[in-house]
Amino acid sequence: MSSAELEKTITELAAPTKGILAADESSGTIEKRLKSINVASTEENRCNYREMLFTTPGLGEFISGVILYEETLKQKIKDGTPMAQVLSRQGIVPGIKVDKGTAPLANFPDDSVTQGLDGLANRLAEYKQLGARFAKWRAVLRIGEKIPSQSCMVENARALARYAAICQELDIVPIVEPEVLMDGNHSLERCAAVTEQVLHAVFHALHQHRVKLEHMLLKPNMVIAGMDHRPQASPEQVAKATIACFRRTVPAAVPGIFFLSGGQSDAMASANLSAHNVWPERQPWCLSFSYGRALQTPALKAWQGSAANVAAAQQALYKRARLNSAARQGKYTAAMEIAF
Ligand code: 13P
Repeated sequence: MSSAELEKTITELAAPTKGILAADESSGTIEKRLKSINVASTEENRCNYREMLFTTPGLGEFISGVILYEETLKQKIKDGTPMAQVLSRQGIVPGIKVDKGTAPLANFPDDSVTQGLDGLANRLAEYKQLGARFAKWRAVLRIGEKIPSQSCMVENARALARYAAICQELDIVPIVEPEVLMDGNHSLERCAAVTEQVLHAVFHALHQHRVKLEHMLLKPNMVIAGMDHRPQASPEQVAKATIACFRRTVPAAVPGIFFLSGGQSDAMASANLSAHNVWPERQPWCLSFSYGRALQTPALKAWQGSAANVAAAQQALYKRARLNSAARQGKYTAAMEIAF
């Protein structure tokens, strides 16, 4: 293990004015996204879409890393440049999603467990050759009356820890992503209770598997009410509950927390992140973003699969990246939505 290499990657990813773009939608998810703009999910269209995103002029001003799906890491843009190199040229660190999605957890209806540990070390070695310097593994925890079960939390935490240990052996920074879903009508308090339990299980497992906390990043959900719950909490209430939860569960040795957006609207994801960064208490970790939908949705809508719309789509992505960079510094205001 080379601490210097891991530390260099973390320093670049956690740059004080930047965050991460999650563009690692699996085949099924990208099909859904492209279908929403009536574009067929062919390999060529997927490549064109990602080329549009990653060649956005100036993207590296606000984005420190991009998470890719395996297919994308192996693709080249039209001028023949490999995707990882397209990103490196922008000063952006290429990363890779390495889990293989979820499967039902036997005997625990509605709970799932993330797969992909078999052969992971070999796959990581190949991804590294292709330019990936960090990785992501997502565990999914759904809130329901009786879920997530303790077994679901323990098994997902164990898989996250084993993944993180393998990454660190290969000098790839692991992003550990336990996502408590926003789906449903549960309260913010219920999300807080579940997120706290999940993070306890995750950090216990990381300790058991000797994962070096200084050399990983956390990608959690914010503590937020379910999407169907009314009323929704204000950004200040979300920040207060989220910070309280992390202070109880996330050791100070973890250098950075990069939120997922999880179905929040673009503006809500920016306002909520900003509220965390103006919080009066100083936190031991940086609080940044690793957004998928909250960065991409306006660009996807503007693009519509047409080369004629590339510049407009790139402007839309640039704007969201810029606004989230402001939020990462606690400087986002709703007025910026119009001014920028
Ligand atoms: P969203 O920000 O759209 O939730 O995606 C982030 C991500 O990488 C989920 O795994």
